[in-house]
Amino acid sequence: MSERLLDAKKNALEEEVEISLRPQYLNEYIGQESLKSNLRVFMGAALHRGETLDHVLIYGPPGLGKTTLAYVIANEMKGKIRVINGPSIERTGDLAAILADLEPGDILFIDEIHRLPRVVEEVLYSAMEDFQLSILLPRDGSSKTINLTLAPFTLIGATTRAGDLSAPLRSRFGIVEKINFYNEKEIAGIITRTSGVLKTPISEKATSLIAKRSRGTPRIANRLFRRVRDFANYARKNDISQEDALKALDALKVDCLGLDDVDIRYLTAIIERFHGGPVGLEAVASAIGEEIMNLEDVYEPYLLQIGLINRTPRGRVVSEKAYAHLKKNHQKKLF
Ligand code: ADE
Repeated sequence: MSERLLDAKKNALEEEVEISLRPQYLNEYIGQESLKSNLRVFMGAALHRGETLDHVLIYGPPGLGKTTLAYVIANEMKGKIRVINGPSIERTGDLAAILADLEPGDILFIDEIHRLPRVVEEVLYSAMEDFQLSILLPRDGSSKTINLTLAPFTLIGATTRAGDLSAPLRSRFGIVEKINFYNEKEIAGIITRTSGVLKTPISEKATSLIAKRSRGTPRIANRLFRRVRDFANYARKNDISQEDALKALDALKVDCLGLDDVDIRYLTAIIERFHGGPVGLEAVASAIGEEIMNLEDVYEPYLLQIGLINRTPRGRVVSEKAYAHLKKNHQKKLF
């Protein structure tokens, strides 16, 4: 089998495991307490009235459980869920076909909704507002408008960039919720749950070690758990000890704050090449050969959250804490 095919198979398998770890109902979902308590009210009230839930927009950094939450909402509302990705819908007809196919109470989940092409997005306006579909079809040199009444449905949009959503789209969501980074205790709870689902016991100290290095992100916690499990299983053990966890995390070069190679290069570049900032993100991205959007969406939110960088009108600035952290790592000869 070719290496690429093997990689694809491995990724598919990892994704399958990841999906099996997802909570199905709100009471199994750990963390995001205020978001959950709001949703409980909105969903309970809609169920009581026999109506569909209002459209929901969930925004926040990647890996925090936006998709998981969409499935949880579908289960709680007893609706079928249809999942699509913003950038994969290129033509208005593609979205119209999906909308026309929905049944009453269905959930349409659009991930990365900020990347929906504008013409496609416009189809959503009347669909969201009064379940009407209005599309223009070209016909013998002229065109014809087709109007269709849709089944009442709930749109759940997820985005890492709420600011990139157009005002007309954003205003059509009745429920707008931010998903935040999880605290260490919540991440430890998610790891304990994962250890149960995967039938691999883990010590409390190993759990806490992984939790500290997971950047407040369940997807990272679960990925680290699987890698740590690999180290234990390779040593012919089924249980994970603190020693296994330490060995694996060091081998994966995830430091005590959960920073990886890209974070370190990002911070080091600002300190060494731009005197600690302020510096524009474009300049940092080009200095370390990373994509601007990847840095902005994936890396910076956590660095901001733990206070290693600040955003100013003149650009990014690293904090004293970042200097201290990197120096500590330098002493440890991590890089
Ligand atoms: N797995 C991933 N995210 C989770 C969460 N928030 N609660 C429980 N299990 C999870």
